[in-house]
Amino acid sequence: MKSSILGLGLAAILAATTAFAQQPIVIKFSHVVTNDTPKGKGALKFKELAEKYTNGKVKVEVYPNSTLYKDKEEMDALQLGSVQMLAPSTAKFRPIGVPEFEAMDLPYIFPDEATYYKVVNGPVGKSLLKKLEAKGITGLAFWDNGFHMVSANRPLLMPADFQGLKIRISGSKVADQYFRAMGALPQIMAFSEVYQALQTGVVDGCENTASNYYTQKFYEVQKDITVSYHAHLQYAVIVNTKFWNGLPADIRGQLEKAMKEATDYTNSIAKEENEDALAKIKASGKATLHYLTPAQKKAWMDKLLPVHKAAEGRVGKQIIDELHAAAGFKS
Ligand code: LMR
Repeated sequence: MKSSILGLGLAAILAATTAFAQQPIVIKFSHVVTNDTPKGKGALKFKELAEKYTNGKVKVEVYPNSTLYKDKEEMDALQLGSVQMLAPSTAKFRPIGVPEFEAMDLPYIFPDEATYYKVVNGPVGKSLLKKLEAKGITGLAFWDNGFHMVSANRPLLMPADFQGLKIRISGSKVADQYFRAMGALPQIMAFSEVYQALQTGVVDGCENTASNYYTQKFYEVQKDITVSYHAHLQYAVIVNTKFWNGLPADIRGQLEKAMKEATDYTNSIAKEENEDALAKIKASGKATLHYLTPAQKKAWMDKLLPVHKAAEGRVGKQIIDELHAAAGFKS
């Protein structure tokens, strides 16, 4: 009698242990844009590949569109380990003490996508990701989302058109500086709050890429969008280091492979996704698209290029110098 009870107990423990051993490792991947954007599609691609390469030993739960956390909260959650993976824009690293990422937000720093890729895939990209180590964060990759446009309910063609406008920014001091240089009043606001703020007039305008304008419907509440491409939007894909280093080495290797392929995929679709979004905005007829003439562009550059020097005190002279050299930038 006694031994059969003991036997039952052992069987239950064994069953529980086996079930526990079969529990997948869960990676919560939180981000603020919709699934239908370069970053959103990249996160889903990573999920697909990570689950495939680990034969289901890893389960990736993707939480898009700020469903889990808003901009600032997600960084705290990553450091606390409540979420394992994020892909914030380089404008959002100041709160964790790595403002150097904002060098990537400098106006007109990348003349084209090829230069952007050269920089993030070279020593500057590597040294930025390395700076995260001291913060308990591991940087895995950079994901592209193209160039920024800017909008309001009036055409923004010359710097004077920005005078006194409240413009939403996502957190970068560099963006703060360049909108001030144009005479605007930049305001930091979480991405999930922008549509309503534009609709109710809490802010007058904003900047973002075409894919974000389209999927967040900003174009429905902004009359005039300037396709200015005055700065570039990119993300660093990051994980909690304790979690990452605690993974079995073979699993981590498969996840690295999945991340590399998801990165290639995301970067390969970014340009087309943004072009498609721009075409859809245009077709909607809801906002007027404006393109700067060479003279207007020059007037913008005259205001915005001095920000490179002014940003040295906020972002770091060394990283700006390195970035200038890597991007072949001449002021
Ligand atoms: C923003 O807040 O404007 C962007 O960072 C959103 C994003 O992640 O693309």
